[in-house]
Amino acid sequence: MDEFTLNGKTVLVTGASSGIGKETALLIHRYGARVILTGRNADRLATVINRITTQASEPEPSTGKPALSDSCLVIQADLTVESEMDRLINELPRLDGIVHCAGIVGPLPAKFITQPDIDRMFAINYHVPVNLTGKLLRKKKIADHASLVFMSTIATRNPYFGGALYSSSKAALEAYSRTLALEMTPKGIRSNFIMAGLVDTPMIENPSEKNMQDEALQRYLKRYPLGIGKPHDVAGSILFFLSDASRWITGTSLILGGE
Ligand SMILES: NC(=O)c1ccc[n+]([C@@H]2O[C@H](COP(=O)([O-])OP(=O)(O)OC[C@H]3O[C@@H](n4cnc5c(N)ncnc54)[C@H](OP(=O)(O)O)[C@@H]3O)[C@@H](O)[C@H]2O)c1
Repeated sequence: MDEFTLNGKTVLVTGASSGIGKETALLIHRYGARVILTGRNADRLATVINRITTQASEPEPSTGKPALSDSCLVIQADLTVESEMDRLINELPRLDGIVHCAGIVGPLPAKFITQPDIDRMFAINYHVPVNLTGKLLRKKKIADHASLVFMSTIATRNPYFGGALYSSSKAALEAYSRTLALEMTPKGIRSNFIMAGLVDTPMIENPSEKNMQDEALQRYLKRYPLGIGKPHDVAGSILFFLSDASRWITGTSLILGGE
């Protein structure tokens, strides 16, 4: 069905160098989107572009036509640096979709949270998506009827030990997304967020997080009736939110993982 394709849409994916953002960039390109990938790490971004280029020589699933080789663009940027965010924005065309995947995690018991920890977590998980969206709106770089997708976590509902800072940065983002949806209705711009359970990405492999998971692994596994997610499991839902198949859905969220 045509409403499930992204033909003719230009989509920015932040955090496209890794994990969920990377898998999303690959999938939505296969479904016809022109994709703009951003991230900090040039080597990882280059790997994603190579995979997209390889994929572009394969038949595009919905139309059978080969995807265009010029249908992706990389803009490297550390989004917590304002000048780099502004450079990204200046280089961007008008967007039909934005997938806000850039983010960090880091378990820290509430007792040990300090102001620098708060600043670091909120900088990328909350300030970046909020500032990026606001700047793009003011520059009129978000097309009418565009779809904005924010990555959140089921942990905003189901707390885990050490997750206070991470979860609260995402809870703030959820409130932003819902309010944005309300304010954007005159332009038909939609805003939704995804509350994912545990997904197997480099994010959960960092040493401190890994230790936390080893301790709690059995408990975690019981919480996920379908097991731990793969990045592709999340990318499919993002594709749906970007496509016209979800044109009547805004101001809400989708829980992934069955927790
Ligand atoms: N994995 C999970 O279990 C899970 C569950 C629920 C929600 N989420 C959310 O889903 C999103 C993606 O997570 P993931 O698991 O795919 O993580 P990941 O594999 O660690 O990828 C994180 C991405 O964020 C980018 N990033 C981090 N800091 C940045 C900065 N200052 N400027 C620009 N880009 C920056 C990284 O870029 P570089 O590679 O260039 O550093 C990378 O592309 C995050 O928002 C996360 O909170 C993840």
